[in-house]
Amino acid sequence: MKKPLIAGNWKMFKTIREAVNLVQTIKAGIYKITDCQIVICPPFTALAGLSPILADSPLELGAQNMHPENEGAYTGEISPLMIKEVGCRYVILGHSERRQYFKEDDIFINEKVKTALRYSLIPILCVGETLDQRNARQQHEAVKLQFEQSLKDLTKEDILKTVIAYEPVWAIGTGKTATPEQAEQMQSYIRRLLKEKYGDEIAGKVLILYGGSVKPDNIGELIKKPNIDGALVGGASLKAESFIQIVMNATKALEAEAAR
Ligand code: PGA
Repeated sequence: MKKPLIAGNWKMFKTIREAVNLVQTIKAGIYKITDCQIVICPPFTALAGLSPILADSPLELGAQNMHPENEGAYTGEISPLMIKEVGCRYVILGHSERRQYFKEDDIFINEKVKTALRYSLIPILCVGETLDQRNARQQHEAVKLQFEQSLKDLTKEDILKTVIAYEPVWAIGTGKTATPEQAEQMQSYIRRLLKEKYGDEIAGKVLILYGGSVKPDNIGELIKKPNIDGALVGGASLKAESFIQIVMNATKALEAEAAR
């Protein structure tokens, strides 16, 4: 069975001191967990400070973005080499906030995904439709386009080292979670796209996360769905208590499901 993955996307929250405190509390709360991969994605400034704290824990480190070049005259940007140097194993790419506020398009995101893989970083590629697209019943076309363009040229080996996160834009930070059925419906569609491109066996191994207002009280129902392999958590990852509870509830729900 695939190990589920729960990632916390802290966005532009937490100073270094706050980040250290939060991670220490999370670490103390989840030290027993072995059947879930847990990734923390703090702001760039906190990465170096958190790296040694996470070293002897099941928690892994991820960045929230990176530039596709390894160095260059790109004021304000951070390269894959730099995030690797501070201990990142993962990097979130193509988050809808990057697409919306920083005008990142699929071609640029595809460059980043390919560079991440070249540097042995695991990309967490985000896809998801806007509310307008869903209202116009174009959610499948929207996600398919992002899928095809952002993952263009990826080989079978590459896709096995890539995580996909389905994040409907209308559910991010709004408190409006997609229902487990809505999320499963789209995630099984993404799995189908993977199957068409890479075959059943490989498609079955790729982790597909759900993101958008994941909370301790909805993770259990979400993660029980066959095509939901974990979660990308924003707001609820900023408090140790709720993040720990999400991890606990996810593992409990999966245990209960396995025992059935
Ligand atoms: P949210 O954010 O959990 O606050 O909705 C999710 C995300 O943006 O990854």
